[in-house]
Amino acid sequence: MKNIPTIKLSSGFNVPNLGQGTWYMGEDARDRRAEADALRVGIDLGMSLIDTAEMYASGGAEEVVAQAIQGQRNNVFLVSKVLPSNASTDGTIKACEESLRRLQTDVIDLYLLHWRGGYPLDETVAAFEALIKAGKIRSWGVSNFDVDDMEELATVAGGSAVGVNQVLYNLKRRGPELALMPWCSARNIPIMAYSPIEQGRLLNSPALASIARELETTAASVALAWVLNQKGVIAIPKSSNPDHIRHNRNAADIKLTSSQLDALNNAFEPPDRILPLEML
Ligand SMILES: NC(=O)c1ccc[n+]([C@@H]2O[C@H](COP(=O)([O-])OP(=O)(O)OC[C@H]3O[C@@H](n4cnc5c(N)ncnc54)[C@H](OP(=O)(O)O)[C@@H]3O)[C@@H](O)[C@H]2O)c1
Repeated sequence: MKNIPTIKLSSGFNVPNLGQGTWYMGEDARDRRAEADALRVGIDLGMSLIDTAEMYASGGAEEVVAQAIQGQRNNVFLVSKVLPSNASTDGTIKACEESLRRLQTDVIDLYLLHWRGGYPLDETVAAFEALIKAGKIRSWGVSNFDVDDMEELATVAGGSAVGVNQVLYNLKRRGPELALMPWCSARNIPIMAYSPIEQGRLLNSPALASIARELETTAASVALAWVLNQKGVIAIPKSSNPDHIRHNRNAADIKLTSSQLDALNNAFEPPDRILPLEML
């Protein structure tokens, strides 16, 4: 097994390009221990970037993450998110403090605005800067920002410090390839691809199944390997199932051939015009 390749964020941190998501974790108290154990399996396999949010299970997912990283905070790169409805300057600071309490840590490595809401961007960026100064976050970024949002952010004081843009990106959602990804790439802003296997809906694709047979792996591993093949992209699949997590980890070791990439391009055509960014 090779090491998972790393990506350097504009903030200077090196992170694995394959991490773990947590949406829908923490919903049911009876599942929490297994979910935390599953995250630990992933961390042990090098998928040490963990993505969570105050929104997930209304803070419950952050509590699961706290359980998973107990005794190994320094092995993990923690990402959480503030809801747009909390994203005023004071609201962002308060939301972050609540997340830190649930995560049982002093600092979040990367703190994102979950999507654009009603508060002006300069208010949220001012809060992010204050949180960095106070040592409560190490860097910040955005999520679900299309090119026009990124351009507006660039005009805000301090806005160019944005660390990543987390967006919906997978074989079925290739819209960002035409404008958003080149825009971010030109500024060295990595894309964090959420729902990289389309929440499981990609897995019955015959094209993926056929390549999976060739490589003696699963459709999920192939779908993830395709995402990881894109430059400057970090994928954060969510799984609470240790077998699935091992298959997801295997994706980092797969090098798709040009004929396999052609087959995927035929089955999942790249966009022929710029489309608005989709979100889940
Ligand atoms: N910023 C945003 O607005 C936003 C939006 C959506 C998601 N996200 C983040 O991105 C993460 C990932 O996205 P997602 O959770 O929406 O979707 P996803 O990672 O594409 O898919 C998760 C689903 O696929 C299943 N799965 C995972 N690996 C599998 C495998 N190897 N084989 C078969 N099934 C597999 C999981 O079930 P099992 O648990 O049973 O494996 C789960 O039902 C989220 O958890 C969240 O952290 C962010």
